[in-house]
Amino acid sequence: MRLLVTGGAGFIGSTFVRRRLDATDDSVIVLDKLTYAGDLANLAEVAERPDAATRYRFVEGDIADAPLVAELVREVDAVVSFAAESHVDRSILEPTAFLVTGVMGVHALLEAVRVAQGGRRKSAVRLLQVSTDEVYGPVAAGLAPETHPVRPTSPYSAAKASGDLLVQAYRETYGLDTVITRGANTYGPAQHPEKLVPLFITNALQDLPLPMYGDGTQVRDWLYVDDHADAVSVVLDRGSPGTIYNVPGDGSEQSNRAVTEAILAALGKPWSLVREVPDRPGHDRRYALDGSRLRDLGWMPTVAFEDGIDRTVRWYVEHESRWRSTQGAGWADYYERQYAWRLERSVPS
Ligand code: NAD
Ligand code: TYD
Repeated sequence: MRLLVTGGAGFIGSTFVRRRLDATDDSVIVLDKLTYAGDLANLAEVAERPDAATRYRFVEGDIADAPLVAELVREVDAVVSFAAESHVDRSILEPTAFLVTGVMGVHALLEAVRVAQGGRRKSAVRLLQVSTDEVYGPVAAGLAPETHPVRPTSPYSAAKASGDLLVQAYRETYGLDTVITRGANTYGPAQHPEKLVPLFITNALQDLPLPMYGDGTQVRDWLYVDDHADAVSVVLDRGSPGTIYNVPGDGSEQSNRAVTEAILAALGKPWSLVREVPDRPGHDRRYALDGSRLRDLGWMPTVAFEDGIDRTVRWYVEHESRWRSTQGAGWADYYERQYAWRLERSVPS
């Protein structure tokens, strides 16, 4: 297949591109805007492959740029869309970019697929929208199946849910071949340091405080990045048209306190670094996914949380210059806005 992978310079997208090129004969065009979260270093290994000249191309651009997207979609058999603004806290500070990419961007992709589809007699252009479990909102008890109501609580999850609804509307109205994945909280090497796991690892490495929102009893189901990328591949290859697939983590349901303990233990750092800070507004207490639909396609997570955390910690220990460079010019400003006042009001945990 010829694939257009949007957001392929990001954390999960770059992992997908690398593993897909290894596992198949597909060729890949990556379309990425290179926001603060996109990093060509994530694709360096791909660009250096001996077969890169024939199987890989990078295009810097925006999924909301309709003419560009239309041109690229004409060249491919499927679109796998990872592109999004992906951090809940930033969506609370500045929601606009989330909506532009999550609504207008997804719409531009769908329109391009619809038009490309019109000109083809035989095979459909499949569009896979990479979405998130956060569209369900907090799951108080049990596991959310794909039929769970969509009740987003943050601008991030509302933008993702909006994209999903557009995808489903295009499926119903125009008969496009669409599939959606809804992944759990993902962690692993080379994630931008803004998210919980990499932030706490990189702060602990520098003996900086670890800002825990509220009492840290919120629960997430953690999914190792390679497993997430492979689940997307399985759905791309074998998912039924028009279907949503949850992508759960290893099912161990860790509280944020437990995640923090695992990170500190792996680094040999003390709990005294942890500070309880004022909570995130609209903080979802728990996510938990029913993964039976994807299990029926033959996919299961392979990396247990303890193993994944060890691998992830090791990566950050060994790649200091890399994670420092991904923090980029805007990091100090973001950190100040997000954490300075919280740390002033913090208490030991
Ligand atoms: P990321 O922030 O690391 O990467 C996002 C990538 O998209 C970046 O390379 C960025 O430059 C690019 N991008 C952003 N806006 C764009 C635009 N308008 N046009 C083109 N490129 C653009 O995010 P990630 O963690 O790799 O997440 C990838 C996808 O997976 C997102 O859609 C996210 O919602 C979803 N997801 C993430 C998680 C998680 O825990 N990280 C969990 C479930 C689902
Ligand atoms: P995060 O990695 O931002 O993912 P999400 O909000 O998409 O689940 O956060 C994971 C959990 O960690 C969530 O309950 C919020 C919490 N958290 C903190 O306690 N402190 C922090 O500085 C961050 C970034 C997150």
